[in-house]
Amino acid sequence: MIDVVISEHEKLSDAVLKLTLSALKGEQLPEFKAGAHIDVRVNDSIVRQYSICSAASAKDAYSIAVLNDPNSRGGSMHIHREFKAGQIVQISAPRNLFELGEHSAPVLLIGAGIGITPLLSMGYTLAERGQDFTICYLHKPAEHVAFQSELLSEPFAGKSVLIPAVNRQTTRQQLKSLIGEYQDGQHVYTCGPAGFMELVFELADVQNWPSQSLHKEMFQNDVDNSTDADKSFTLHLTKSACSVQVSAEQTALEALDEAGIEIDASCEQGVCGTCLLKVVDGKVDHRDAYLTEEEKRLHNQFTPCCSRALSSSLSIEL
Ligand code: FES
Repeated sequence: MIDVVISEHEKLSDAVLKLTLSALKGEQLPEFKAGAHIDVRVNDSIVRQYSICSAASAKDAYSIAVLNDPNSRGGSMHIHREFKAGQIVQISAPRNLFELGEHSAPVLLIGAGIGITPLLSMGYTLAERGQDFTICYLHKPAEHVAFQSELLSEPFAGKSVLIPAVNRQTTRQQLKSLIGEYQDGQHVYTCGPAGFMELVFELADVQNWPSQSLHKEMFQNDVDNSTDADKSFTLHLTKSACSVQVSAEQTALEALDEAGIEIDASCEQGVCGTCLLKVVDGKVDHRDAYLTEEEKRLHNQFTPCCSRALSSSLSIEL
C-alpha cells in the first residue's frame, strides 16, 4: 500500500464526494492508464475499489469519487463520514481491467451515475490524443448534479451529453439515437449498473455494432452470492497437502483465512479477480462477474471470495 494525502475534499452533490489523493512530499505515484482503479484502505478491515476519474497525465495525484450508497456494505459511508482533507490514507497502485484502446474513429463514452468516473479519465486521455469523442452521463433528475460543471468545461465542453433518467422508455430512445448505426472503427465504453450496461449493449447490437467494439466495466457483482441452499465443501490444497473445510455459512476465502492461509483479496464480491486461484480438480459453482463464460466452463480457476463448489470438493493449487 502507498501512503497519500487527501489534498482536495469536495462534495459534488448530496451523495457524491470527490477526493484528490496526492503523493507525499518528495514521492511519486505510479503511472496509470485511463480506466484504472485503485484500492483504498477505508479502515483496518475494509478495502474498497474506486475508479480514477482524473487525467492520467496528472502525475502526482489521483482523483476518485465516492457515492454514499445506502445499500453499500459500509465502506462508502465511512469515507463520507470520516475522511477529511489533509488526512493520510493508504491506497494500492492502480490496476486496469477496463483499458482504453487506441482507436482512430470517434469513441463513445456512456456512463450512468457514479459509473461516469472511469469514463472521465478516458475523456481526458482522448482529448490529449486529439481524438474525437462524445461522453454521455445518465444522471438522476436533481437540482445539483454531480460532475455537471466538469462535463460542461474543457475538454468536455461541446462533447458531453447529460441525460436525466426520467423513465426507461425515454432513456432508451435517447440512448438509441446517441449510439446510432455502427460506423467503421467506432468503439463504445460503458460503465454503470448492470441493467444499464446491458441496455447499452442491446441498443448497440440492434444497430449493428460488432461485439468487439463494445466495452464495459463491472462496478459490482449482481449475482446473489449466498443462498439458504449453500452446502459445505472441502478444499484440497495440492501444494501444501492439506484440506480445509468450507461451511455452508462461510466463503472459501473466510475458511482459508481461518486456517491461517492468507489470500490477497480486494473487492470480496467477485469483481476484481485479485483472489483468483487455480483449480486442478472438481466443479466450480462460479458466482463471480470477473471470469468470462468461456473461462468458467473450463472449471480451472475460481474466486474464493464468492464462488463455491458444485462437487463435494475442489483441489486447488495452493
Ligand atoms: S477479491 Fe475481488 S474477485 Fe475475489
